[in-house]
Amino acid sequence: MRTTKIADRLGCRHPVFGFSWWEPDVAIAVSLAGGVGVWGCTRRTPDEIEIGITRMKEELGDLPWGVDLVIPAGMPDEDDRAAIEAHLPDEHVAFVAGLREKYGVPDDGLPGFRSRFVRSEETARAQLEVVMDHRIPVLALGIGSPVWAVEQAHERGSLIVSLVGQPRHAESAIRAGADVLVAQGSDAGGHTGTVGTFSLVPQIVDLADGRPVLAAGGVATGRHLAAALTLGADGVWMGTAFLGSTEAAPSQTVFDKLVGAGSTDTVISRSDSGKTLRMLRSAWSDEWAAADAPEPLKMPYQDILVGDLLGQILRHEVEPLVHEGAGQGVAYLTAQEPVAQIMDRLVHEADQVLAELGT
Ligand SMILES: Cc1cc2nc3c(=O)[nH]c(=O)nc-3n(C[C@H](O)[C@H](O)[C@H](O)COP(=O)(O)O)c2cc1C
Repeated sequence: MRTTKIADRLGCRHPVFGFSWWEPDVAIAVSLAGGVGVWGCTRRTPDEIEIGITRMKEELGDLPWGVDLVIPAGMPDEDDRAAIEAHLPDEHVAFVAGLREKYGVPDDGLPGFRSRFVRSEETARAQLEVVMDHRIPVLALGIGSPVWAVEQAHERGSLIVSLVGQPRHAESAIRAGADVLVAQGSDAGGHTGTVGTFSLVPQIVDLADGRPVLAAGGVATGRHLAAALTLGADGVWMGTAFLGSTEAAPSQTVFDKLVGAGSTDTVISRSDSGKTLRMLRSAWSDEWAAADAPEPLKMPYQDILVGDLLGQILRHEVEPLVHEGAGQGVAYLTAQEPVAQIMDRLVHEADQVLAELGT
């Protein structure tokens, strides 16, 4: 694969960033395969982040890698679940109880990823403290790049990568001090906006003023990687392509749904987190989209409203409601493969396409 600014700067063989938010295994495998693996640890406690980062450092040595935190504006100051619960409207609580009953979701009394703690300034600062102590190579920030976080990370030598979905997000990330921008189009899995990748990437490249830009959203094959470079991006940032990998080890139900899905089987819904999130369509998104369903609450109220139930749906594999954040590129996910194989195919195909174009 050709080298690019970002690959040179980080010393990776391929300009491919791979994001994953379960265990660090996928991120580790991406870095071992020549890319930059990024572990999404925004739903992890500081102790878990410490364990995950220690593992990544041990297994990756000098190879580049990173972690991703989501620090949205407007969250409460403290991690106080009772305070959030006190404000949940009765109609919403009853709706969620109705879903539990209708689909027979067992109540094991345990929280889910979204409700283990409240997304708040307090948790963000505690998470960031652990990350800072490790002087990590790359800190990625999804949804917002607060200046205080960027400054702390820069002091410790981390490269700041900010995810943006619109030109105005890019402008504020640049003002905050971002070193690299991820232009994430609407096709992407997870929290996403309304502008498609093809429309977005060149606009962000033009705004970036020489900073490297990574194209994200629907990047699944070497053709996409070649196209991203042609659009002026310096590399790609991918999530969905690794969801079904051996290292991601999804449950059989999630894997079957991923492999069975085409691009029209994902929807954008606020039903998981309160912010627009592209996910596999399921009875979960359908129920929340029904005419008589309440409007999802804002983050972090929706997190706490549905978080326990979401965890229980996954743990007990309540098939109709099982879903996962996934982008439109899920159409290209057809088999369970090791990350190294996915990376190899991606890079070889991109090389071939670029060679055919004579670049
Ligand atoms: C299941 C899932 C969870 C995600 N969670 C986060 C997250 O916590 N932080 C973040 O910055 N991006 C998150 N994303 C977005 C990815 O970082 C990435 O931008 C996106 O997956 C790229 O588009 P693609 O899915 O089409 O490859 C998530 C994506 C998926 C699929």
